[in-house]
Amino acid sequence: MSKELSVAIVGATGMVGRELIRLLLQRRFPVKAFRLLASSRSVGKKLQVGDQEIEVQDTNNNSFAGADIAFFGATPEISQNLVPAAAKAGAVVIDDSPVWRMEPDVPLVVPEVNAADLEQHGGVIAIPNSSTTPIVLALWPVHQVNPIKRIIVDTYQPVSATGARAVGELTEQARAVLDGKNVTPHVYPHQIAFNLLPEIDVFMDNGYTKEEWKIVQETRKIMHEPDLLVSATCVRVPVFVGHSAALHVELSHPMPADEIRDILREAPGITVQDEPSISLYPQPWTAAGRDDIFVGRLRQDVSHPNGFAMWLVSDNLRKGAALNSIQIAEELIARNLI
Ligand SMILES: NC(=O)c1ccc[n+]([C@@H]2O[C@H](COP(=O)([O-])OP(=O)(O)OC[C@H]3O[C@@H](n4cnc5c(N)ncnc54)[C@H](OP(=O)(O)O)[C@@H]3O)[C@@H](O)[C@H]2O)c1
Repeated sequence: MSKELSVAIVGATGMVGRELIRLLLQRRFPVKAFRLLASSRSVGKKLQVGDQEIEVQDTNNNSFAGADIAFFGATPEISQNLVPAAAKAGAVVIDDSPVWRMEPDVPLVVPEVNAADLEQHGGVIAIPNSSTTPIVLALWPVHQVNPIKRIIVDTYQPVSATGARAVGELTEQARAVLDGKNVTPHVYPHQIAFNLLPEIDVFMDNGYTKEEWKIVQETRKIMHEPDLLVSATCVRVPVFVGHSAALHVELSHPMPADEIRDILREAPGITVQDEPSISLYPQPWTAAGRDDIFVGRLRQDVSHPNGFAMWLVSDNLRKGAALNSIQIAEELIARNLI
């Protein structure tokens, strides 16, 4: 049995933090002790962890003494300010925020794709944006066989990817609209209930949003393809859980859709749901709460001889965040890197 670890969870009261607790227990991660950290607002709150109730503590520079591993799932500001303190205290940090992802000495990891990058870790490891992870996971096995030249992706992203407040906002707005009442948006710039918003994160000078730019940069870093052509449009949709994406991919040479489907059927972490005749294709409603990512609607792209198109869906809180973080921790143990 592997050695038991002292585990700190920063943001334990949030969407990602709660999923982390659930999955650490479910996967029987070797935990010696949990330290649950959040803002001062939550101090004293008790969270159920298996059969124990654990009190939430404030997060500060001194929160990490004795921790072997620290999962950060709070806010970018907290990651910016406290990841160095946690690493200095000797904890290996796995950070969910965008803050450290593009630092050259911080591995950005999806274990099924680039687990070997963990060998170079210097105490801080980042997970990708929850919309990037399923894209690289689905495309990596194809890239191994027929190198990808260009990716065009449109994402349909749920409110839980913004956090607990946004889940509350969609719930309240949906009720209000159905009751014929007016809606005042707080989390998003416009009403999200019964609406679509092509704005995720801030707009940049080049016309892309930061969310779209994260997909471009992170995909290149994880796949070790700095010149890969990637373009994204990210849309917020009134769905609670589950990122969806429509992908158009250009390969180096033509490849039948059946061959791509067979490659994906064999790949770890991927379930193919592709029977259009019986309306079987991935949907956020059915992907929520599942570990795998789901792919379907696979077809040759009629607009390019080397192209294929595909639809994919994944649980943003699982493979997009908590599960990917825990798989990294499991890989660190397996490789004796912690
Ligand atoms: N949601 C996703 O699908 C997803 C996917 C990938 C990555 N991420 C990243 O994961 C992180 C958390 O996301 P989330 O969706 O779980 O957000 P959330 O539901 O809003 O939860 C935020 C968490 O951060 C804590 N927090 C806020 N301010 C804090 C402070 N000053 N000090 C310490 N803790 C503080 C909150 O504690 P209180 O309860 O005390 O306020 C809460 O536990 C973000 O960095 C996000 O970018 C999220």
